[in-house]
Amino acid sequence: MNTSSESLDVVILAAGKGTRMKSELPKVLHRLCGITLIERTLRAAAGLSPKSVTVVVGYRADLVEEEVKRFAAGESAPDVDVQGISFQCVVQEQQLGTGHAAQVAMAALDEASGSVLILPGDSPLVTTEALSPLLEDFVAQSAELAFLSAEVADPFGFGRIIRNADGTVAKIVEQKDCSEEEAKVTEINTSFYLATSAFMREALGSLENNNAQKEFYLTDIVDYAVRNDKPAFALVSASPDALLGANSIAELSALESIRRQEIVSAWMAAGVTFEDPQAAYIGEDVVIESDSFIGAGTRLKGSTKIGTGVRLDGDSLIENSAIGQGSHLRLGCYVQDASIAASCVIGPFAHIRPGSELRDGVKIGNFVETKKALLHDGVKVNHLSYVGDAEVGARSNLGAGTITCNYDGVNKHKTTIGKDCFVGSNSALVAPVTLGDEAYVGAGSTITKNVPGKSLGIARSRQNNIEGWSSKKK
Ligand code: UD1
Ligand code: MG
Repeated sequence: MNTSSESLDVVILAAGKGTRMKSELPKVLHRLCGITLIERTLRAAAGLSPKSVTVVVGYRADLVEEEVKRFAAGESAPDVDVQGISFQCVVQEQQLGTGHAAQVAMAALDEASGSVLILPGDSPLVTTEALSPLLEDFVAQSAELAFLSAEVADPFGFGRIIRNADGTVAKIVEQKDCSEEEAKVTEINTSFYLATSAFMREALGSLENNNAQKEFYLTDIVDYAVRNDKPAFALVSASPDALLGANSIAELSALESIRRQEIVSAWMAAGVTFEDPQAAYIGEDVVIESDSFIGAGTRLKGSTKIGTGVRLDGDSLIENSAIGQGSHLRLGCYVQDASIAASCVIGPFAHIRPGSELRDGVKIGNFVETKKALLHDGVKVNHLSYVGDAEVGARSNLGAGTITCNYDGVNKHKTTIGKDCFVGSNSALVAPVTLGDEAYVGAGSTITKNVPGKSLGIARSRQNNIEGWSSKKK
């Protein structure tokens, strides 16, 4: 990495509402592959180990600030090193343009003497690797200003890079200010700038808002450098996709498709099979071990971890959960904040809710819901059951329609079932209640008292057969 990173200050512009998103949520809090745009930008910035990161906030500043604080505290991205970086948010009360936002940031960085890297908050595919060449060339060329450009097929909406006949940069012209000729230029401004702090201050001081949008454009610092003979250059990025901005939901979705396919391709390269790579939604921080099979319509979110040889038949949503080696989730399961150990068979159509801990070899069948339940090795709950606030001992079998009645309308109570128990179908276990090891419950029982170990609990009205009843009725 470049030698100036100790004196590198990063600024992220994130004060805008994102009007073109047509959303009340600030644009930078929209998500791409599960991570907010601002956090994605923060991750790329942190990878450069800068001295400081200043985020310019404005529209719903408190929400954006909270997200920045979570990141700075190492809560949202535990794998990213934030040690030694000082984070701050500064408020741009009125959003008068990207140049004005940069002025607000520089005012808060009055001590800064090295270089400053300005990033837009709405280019969520940015990576540390895509930024590094800019830092290296900036040092190598002793520039005062350098910025990243990209060659794109469709430049509409972006600022265009206008170059002189000798190839040097002349200026950046915004879409709305473009002449017909300028609009044809396919080299666009990505809005990533690196400058000496001294140059940045000087150039920002010169900005005016006499343009189509009556805004203070950050892009005009390029024109300032040219007019004042300051060494400046545009580096055409080798990874243009990483630098594209999103201003609307459709543009964000297009960027997400790019990233989604990158993620899936990386897992395929690591030995994971996808039934349909176009129809898998794998979050940025998900981990999948080799020899797993990911069926179509699978969504893996948050900090989910899939072990070796796991089979997911498809149409399942798994959030912040771990699935152990060789387990099999049949079609249509919803798993949240849960852990499923090795060699389990789940579903089809099972709902494994927060706090469920399924140990090795557990079998969960169709239309079963578990919540805050510890199911020890080999437990079977095969059909139409609810197991909540419960612990079930090894190898116990809960018959179809077993319900733990955990809620009395005010409080939740626990059901404890020992090992090697057998609960007959359609039984209600009214908590708090305990079944001892090897206890049985007769089908159709409503169990309100503990059942001792090795005993049968049966709580239903006795059957009465009336012989010859039907012929008498006739
Ligand atoms: C900007 C560039 C354009 C470039 C494009 C790349 C300018 C004038 N234009 O256009 O050349 O091609 O990015 O994606 O810079 N923001 C503030 N305060 C403001 C205005 C904006 O913080 O007053 C923030 C926004 O929240 C956003 C970023 O700056 O994160 C960029 O603003 P946006 O309005 O998206 O600029 P573009 O029109 O995309
Ligand atoms: Mg933008």
